[in-house]
Amino acid sequence: MRPTTTPPTIRLSDYKQPEFWIETVDLHFKLHPTETRVRSRIVFKGNTERTDGPHDLRLHGQDLKLISASINGTPLKDDEILIDAEGLTIPGDLVPQDGFIWEAEVQTNPQANTSLNGLYMSKGMYCTQCEAEGFRKITYYLDRPDVMAVFTVEIEGDVPVLLSNGNNLGNGKWHDPWPKPAYLFALVAGDLVSYDDHFTTMNGREVDLQIFVRPGDEGKCAYAMDALKRSMRWDETEYGREYDLNLFMIVAVDDFNMGAMENKGLNIFNSKYVLASPKTATDRDYELIEGIIAHEYFHNWTGNRITCRDWFQLCLKEGLTVFRDQQFSGDARSHAVNRIENVLQLRARQFREDAGPLAHPVRPEEYIEINNFYTATVYEKGAEVIGMLRTLVGADNYRRALDLYFERHDGQACTIEDWIKVFEDACNTDLSQFALWYSQAGTPRITVTEDFSGDTLTLTFTQTNPDTPGQTNKKPQVVPIRTGFLAADGSEAAPEQLLVLDEALKSFEINGLVDKPTLSLLRGFSAPVVLERQTTNAERAFLLTYDSDPFNQWEAGRDYALDLLQDMILNSAEVDPAFAKAMRAVAVNEALDPAFRALVLSLPSEDALAQAIFEQGTAPDPDAIYAARQTLAKAVATELSDDLQGLYTELATPGPYTPDAEAAGKRSLRGAVLSLISHLEDDCATAKAQFAAADNMTEQLSALSTLIRHGQGDAEVQAFYDQWQADRLVIDKWFTVQVASAPADKAVDVARALTQHKDFDWKNPNRYRSLIAGFAMMNPAGFHRKDGAGYEFFADWLIKLDPVNPQTTARMCGGFETWRRYDASRQQLMQAQLQRIADLPDLSKDTAEIVGKILN
Ligand code: BES
Ligand code: ZN
Repeated sequence: MRPTTTPPTIRLSDYKQPEFWIETVDLHFKLHPTETRVRSRIVFKGNTERTDGPHDLRLHGQDLKLISASINGTPLKDDEILIDAEGLTIPGDLVPQDGFIWEAEVQTNPQANTSLNGLYMSKGMYCTQCEAEGFRKITYYLDRPDVMAVFTVEIEGDVPVLLSNGNNLGNGKWHDPWPKPAYLFALVAGDLVSYDDHFTTMNGREVDLQIFVRPGDEGKCAYAMDALKRSMRWDETEYGREYDLNLFMIVAVDDFNMGAMENKGLNIFNSKYVLASPKTATDRDYELIEGIIAHEYFHNWTGNRITCRDWFQLCLKEGLTVFRDQQFSGDARSHAVNRIENVLQLRARQFREDAGPLAHPVRPEEYIEINNFYTATVYEKGAEVIGMLRTLVGADNYRRALDLYFERHDGQACTIEDWIKVFEDACNTDLSQFALWYSQAGTPRITVTEDFSGDTLTLTFTQTNPDTPGQTNKKPQVVPIRTGFLAADGSEAAPEQLLVLDEALKSFEINGLVDKPTLSLLRGFSAPVVLERQTTNAERAFLLTYDSDPFNQWEAGRDYALDLLQDMILNSAEVDPAFAKAMRAVAVNEALDPAFRALVLSLPSEDALAQAIFEQGTAPDPDAIYAARQTLAKAVATELSDDLQGLYTELATPGPYTPDAEAAGKRSLRGAVLSLISHLEDDCATAKAQFAAADNMTEQLSALSTLIRHGQGDAEVQAFYDQWQADRLVIDKWFTVQVASAPADKAVDVARALTQHKDFDWKNPNRYRSLIAGFAMMNPAGFHRKDGAGYEFFADWLIKLDPVNPQTTARMCGGFETWRRYDASRQQLMQAQLQRIADLPDLSKDTAEIVGKILN
């Protein structure tokens, strides 16, 4: 429905407790594709803290047809119920203030629900998504996370499997004994099969585990199940958290806006984060499945048992749960490699967000559409803040604080203030300045100067906290800087120190040094800041060789590459032969983990270079950036020319495919080597042979992408399609690899042609993203084509999707978030497309909020 007024801004400062609480909810579903009936019986209780009554009864509801409603058994007449687009109101004089029973019946149309929020259908299967505010599309309710109730559910439907949260009472009846907010409600019904296992908890309770998939996909569940069991054990050993129901279910669905959802006892997953077989899933897919299974499982304690008071507190559950899944993945794989990957992603997504028009604090203070705030800042910076807290208080205190958190707040809906207070109490410390990380947006910038005299090194740090939309004159934050001191022979000249920068300017003295050491600053990336520092390439080469902190070892190579590439792009500099030599030294160093070597060899992304050049005060040229990376890669390949074939052979992983980190690391380095080899071959013979021989998706796809990049992949693109046309998830990859690897001048045409393909089912979010986001986010030179054709194509598709699926459209608008980086002509072209979107008469509030911010 078209909004008649501009949608309201919701503010943290306006929070009030609800007028009523809910004790129990009984729901009865009679499922039908277009006419589902939902009966509800809700026991309300007055909130004695809201003494400002008498209160109307205001319930949320959207796209619902009300059939009947009663209070304490007395039917309400039509003129006693005021219905609007957002819900209904019953005048206070008809509402017993201390409590009453509400009964209602509504009708909804799941098939017509293309938003994929609320109750919808995915290929004949009924499915729900209620976070953040989807439950109000199922029935009239107090759809806010501080209202927690015990749910009993009965489902009637023409399909064999009927699922909801909690314990299975049989015949489609379910009871969840744990009070929960409505956003954790779930229902799934359809023709599904389950892959079963079980788990014995630390106190000896037996838990049945089931992964539900469509018939035919049973063979792709083993890895997800294994990841689930390892997650359950890990949460017991690392956080003392035991699972609390006799059943834990996961369902895989094909049509899903996000990655996955932590509904109590019934997690719902985008099928791409459950289903895996060696032939169809890449190493990266396996890694993501493991991490996301863990993430949603960990929410059972950090999110479900302790939930959020209101949606401004989202980072309370998401930042913490991301931090926990990162810890888990580090334990399961390699801490060094994981940290580098996480920081790469933080910089690519969160630093980009923090530097642009969508910047907001980890805990936002206002929103129009909450779905727009499931952001890199809330998630990834939210996780970094917890990592800093742990660094500052130490691992033992961190664990004591978490124990207190679970003990004090179990069953509650909490705030960031509650979270901070737990640490203050458990660690006997004042965190008021630290808490600024939650309220100040923007990435702090740190500088350092060194002064060595006698046996003392004096380090003087400064921090500046940049202005962001709506925020100026920020206060200095608490920045933990892990610092190492290297002697000339590469050993540690002094023990590592944690320097805590909590002022705009602060000096630290390190005594007892014989010679001036080489600094290794911000080890492990101990704070999400930009460190601005002038160093020499010789120093970087030294750190790349000797730093005992693997993150900084990698970072030294990265800084070297960033500087060199900028010099090549802006000043037409030649390739520095010393850089290629340094890369070779790492590539052939068998003492180093292959996965780590692959990360060192990967050059900074085109987007990272564009941002770096913009920060130097120049408009980035996407074509020049693309060309410089090619030139540098070729120079590295040439330096390594005598080693590449040997490495390629040595790094093969013979025998059956295994998805473990060690094998994946070898394949990752081998993929990097293949890419280098291809710069030295005219016919891409090695990639062609790899494509033909591959028995796993990692190698098949890396070969295909290399071939397309070199304009040699036509036959293989067709062969890949012929082989995989029946596999939805693989065909998503087929779309992505073509648009992401297409040469810049052809990318728009390739993308446009693919939108005509019979398999381009654009209402499916995975398929839509595979092509449209693959083009806009993974092919910068193609997207930024000078004549604006890329922008126009992208905007056309955003406009097409918005009425169908506003949530996914709004998220994708981030493709335009960096428009002010570019030259006047490109800016104007992007602005025109953004304006075209903003001017649409029926634009969703989701997209309107994002586009409005990007334009301003
Ligand atoms: N609670 C979210 C799912 C969600 C996101 C629901 C946005 C409604 C709106 C879930 O726990 C989550 O965070 N999922 C992530 C993956 C995770 C590993 C970071 C996702 O879906 O991207
Ligand atoms: Zn989450």
